[in-house]
Amino acid sequence: MPEARRILISQPLTGEEEWQAVKEPLMTGWLTQGPKVAELEKAFAARHKVKHAYSCTNCTAGLHLCLCALGVGPGDEVIVPSFTWVSSANAVMYCGAKPVLADVNTTTYTLDPAEVARKVTPRTKAVVAVHLFGLCADIDAIKAAAPNAAIVEDSACASGASYKGVPAGGLGSIAAFSFHPRKSVTCGEGGMVTTNDDALGAIVNSLRNHGASISEEQRHAGPRPYLLPEFNMLGFNYRMTDLQGAVAMVQLAKLDAFIAERAKWAQYYRRELANIKWLRLPEQPDGYGHGWQSFVTFVDPASAPMPRNDIMELLQARGIATRPGTHAVHMLGYYRQTFGYQIDDLPGSRDCDLHTMAIPLHNRMSSEDFAYVVDALRQIDSQGKNQK
Ligand SMILES: Cc1ncc(COP(=O)(O)O)c(C=O)c1O
Repeated sequence: MPEARRILISQPLTGEEEWQAVKEPLMTGWLTQGPKVAELEKAFAARHKVKHAYSCTNCTAGLHLCLCALGVGPGDEVIVPSFTWVSSANAVMYCGAKPVLADVNTTTYTLDPAEVARKVTPRTKAVVAVHLFGLCADIDAIKAAAPNAAIVEDSACASGASYKGVPAGGLGSIAAFSFHPRKSVTCGEGGMVTTNDDALGAIVNSLRNHGASISEEQRHAGPRPYLLPEFNMLGFNYRMTDLQGAVAMVQLAKLDAFIAERAKWAQYYRRELANIKWLRLPEQPDGYGHGWQSFVTFVDPASAPMPRNDIMELLQARGIATRPGTHAVHMLGYYRQTFGYQIDDLPGSRDCDLHTMAIPLHNRMSSEDFAYVVDALRQIDSQGKNQK
């Protein structure tokens, strides 16, 4: 048996370059949103082929900004997949609108367009299309199912992902990305809103800075830095710091190399685990550029040698971290209490909540780490066969 290891579910690859980058703002003393953030926004927009990119504190704040910019408010409905991180739905609640939870396709884990068609009403102001685990939602089918709704791309997991050759971030009306450490590129906490719509972009730019008519950087660089700007909108302080901007800039330059490395190991898993019949491996349908933020498997309850949680426990005992892919929002206490959801209301999301298992895939893993994970899963498989 190979020697014991400790493999985390995710671990950012940061180091000397990020350390050096953070020194510049510390030396100049410009710490809040400033030149580093501006540089990052320009580079992020170019990489994702969108007109505008506006950084913010995290993707949750970014989603809130997107929905506010679209004018989502009380009386509006917003369709959100249930199998997603809770903040995709929470952002709708922040606006006083109603999140209408819809089911997902259990093989791609993304919003089922047929569900959108079933749930759309004249009140549907927007659809949050979540590009979960780095695989884009089927945007064309979603647009066809809700032709009058704005499309908000929840691109938290989708930096560098694409759909029919178009990068995530420019597929809908507006999008929000995350730079949390479980994402492919990180600066601790951070987010980015992207859009090709000038008017929406201008609103986001102002709302993230208290609703100010100009940014602090513009005011300081302008002829009358001593005058405060005008505030015509109810905004927030969702600004990213230049310390984070400097780190994210270094990380962004590595995005394509990070994804290429992840894609290589995702293919390795797909090849080496293909014989484990009870473990369904994540798909990459034609026309999709997977961002491989996570490698999320599905443990078939009918044929697995033991329940998913027992498998997770065995792997944990061997030093291998796993997690459920994410949770089903309709099964969370707040949403059950507020809307009266029952667990079986959205069976696809329920099954994904109960049976998905993310296994480690990140840029700090060695080839021995990947082989160790494969070996551990094969052992569970052969134990199961011996018991039959
Ligand atoms: C699908 C999805 N949406 C939104 C978020 C929230 O991102 P953040 O932590 O940057 O607020 C996450 C984070 O895990 C996510 O996975």
